[in-house]
Amino acid sequence: MSGLFHEFVTAAQAEPLCAAIVLGSGLGAVADGYDILASVAYANIPGLVSTTVAGHRGRLDLCRAGTAGLLVAHGRVHFYEGHPVERVTRLVHLFAELGVEQLILTNAAGGLHPLLNPGDLLVIDRHWKLLGPNDWKSLSTPTRIYSPAGLVKIRTLANAPRFGGYAALTGPCYETPAEIRALAACGVDAVGMSTAVEAEAAAHLGLEVLAISCITNKAAGLTANPLSHREVETNAQFGIHHLRELIGGVIA
Ligand code: HPA
Repeated sequence: MSGLFHEFVTAAQAEPLCAAIVLGSGLGAVADGYDILASVAYANIPGLVSTTVAGHRGRLDLCRAGTAGLLVAHGRVHFYEGHPVERVTRLVHLFAELGVEQLILTNAAGGLHPLLNPGDLLVIDRHWKLLGPNDWKSLSTPTRIYSPAGLVKIRTLANAPRFGGYAALTGPCYETPAEIRALAACGVDAVGMSTAVEAEAAAHLGLEVLAISCITNKAAGLTANPLSHREVETNAQFGIHHLRELIGGVIA
């Protein structure tokens, strides 16, 4: 085990941890208000590697949130980068080993629901994990592993966003307009390339899981504009203030 990782784990074990959050593409600034107590690069976490995606800092921070510690993961590794499920869920397993009970996953996503615009948030109350060809056969049965108590709590917060369903696709390319039409017909509100596998692993390990999408674009074919990762990163900024407020409310 690297010394840097060992030092981080020792610091985290000394704190009562209130939650862990994973910040997706362009969303790193959500945690800018928290004091950092310790930090470790993903490359120094056994079983993990640096992230290659622009807009991901590739670092796990131990922060101070009130009287408790908060783990903040800046970015993630994805299937589309060629990583196996063990690596995609490595952070989730680490959170469980450190005694975290609540996980908040965030991501950048394309909006299918007509009322979702760039900068809007969507609280994920169900998901579709569409990572293999056979998964498309189960479009009628989304997975509902998100914390019922957490979802109720969010509904009570001021300025609570819309709730809805998220479909995780393999990527790395964005969807075709035909795929988006098929997903919309099945009730999908937002689409992205992450979160579902981590959420299922965390629920399996007994964590209370919440997930929030920041809508960075209208999904493919819903506007004339071609999609780009640069647009995703730029538009993620519009959701940061609301996301910070919402996460603060959840962990309070
Ligand atoms: N599709 C898939 N992933 C995404 C999108 C999208 O439109 N926007 C941000 N991440």
